[in-house]
Amino acid sequence: MILRRVWRCTRRSFSSFPYNRYPLDAPNCNVPRNIAKRVGTNLHRQPQHPLGILQRRILEFWQPHGFQLYDQLSPIVSTTHNFDHLRIPSDHVSRSPSDTYYLNATTVLRTHTSAHQHELLKTGQNRFLVAGDVYRRDEIDRSHYPIFHQMEGVKIFAPHEQNLIQSELKESLEQLAEHLFGQHITKRWIDTYFPFTEPSFELEILFEGEWLEVLGCGVIHPEVLAKAGRGEQMGYAFGLGLERLAMVLFQIPDIRLFWTHDERFHRQFASGEIVRFEPYSKFPPCFKDISFWLESAFHVNDLNEIVRDVAGDLVERVWLIDDFVHPKTGKTSHCYRIAYRSMDRSLTNEEIDDLQEVVRNRVVNDLGVILR
Ligand code: DAH
Repeated sequence: MILRRVWRCTRRSFSSFPYNRYPLDAPNCNVPRNIAKRVGTNLHRQPQHPLGILQRRILEFWQPHGFQLYDQLSPIVSTTHNFDHLRIPSDHVSRSPSDTYYLNATTVLRTHTSAHQHELLKTGQNRFLVAGDVYRRDEIDRSHYPIFHQMEGVKIFAPHEQNLIQSELKESLEQLAEHLFGQHITKRWIDTYFPFTEPSFELEILFEGEWLEVLGCGVIHPEVLAKAGRGEQMGYAFGLGLERLAMVLFQIPDIRLFWTHDERFHRQFASGEIVRFEPYSKFPPCFKDISFWLESAFHVNDLNEIVRDVAGDLVERVWLIDDFVHPKTGKTSHCYRIAYRSMDRSLTNEEIDDLQEVVRNRVVNDLGVILR
């Protein structure tokens, strides 16, 4: 049987990345072309994309409470907005170029939608949502992808209402969870820490026998408000990860599917409703190992970046399978396994061998490690 696959050109992304202003070969820039070219895709604004459907569903909940949505703010932000205004310490790991995409020393691809709290608070907004794409250098597996989407919410209260904040925060977010997952889900609150809220909480729901983190939230730290010129006021904030929720609600098994152009994926969501995804294919994975002696500056995210750059969405997972210290030289050797698998078609051995060869060469040239 010949499978007919229709690629919809309309879904191809048109990058709005300002290459002139932020050349990718500039000093301190660690953004690869395959990331830059997806800036501006705005999956969360496509009405028949699972992320767009979910965003609308969340908006439906907040809009009657007077929240205004901002879903077209540029993901290119200053380190001041992404970190400093949110009290993220100057030595925090999330600022490291191994974790964050820098366009230059003071400009990043936002790592969270919280990066917009300051500017919106400054313009006097009291109830708002921010939805958008966020970027993190991270591991490669079925639930991690360097671009994902978040939705942020902020509500500021009048002085005489301030004793309500914490209880209203928890009540509203429990109602939101019920709005998304149904009346009968089991939930629990976990105390946690974020630099920009005090106190801070996470909401988890019981899903198929496991606790799943749905969102982070808290009472906005007074310093965050003071920096935005709102020192007399108080309020709450929360942030949700859209892919994580959508993978559960639509039963989407792999995060790469959100980026597929395959019509067999997209036509399932034509109704604009939350429906269960029916997998259309499962092709076998192909595993390749790569072993090398580490040089001091090695970070696994640099390997991940190379594999993605070479193989794009054909890489499903990269993980450490062996870690060894040579007894005489004291040198460390790592062996990583790479799982290649397409979401849409079967791959040939030659194709994978070619990719793996390019990965091996790039690892040597770009990372200066010695292959074993
Ligand atoms: N920015 C957090 C993250 O990316 C999520 C978050 C937590 C947002 C608490 C908030 C908040 O507004 O109050 O992990």
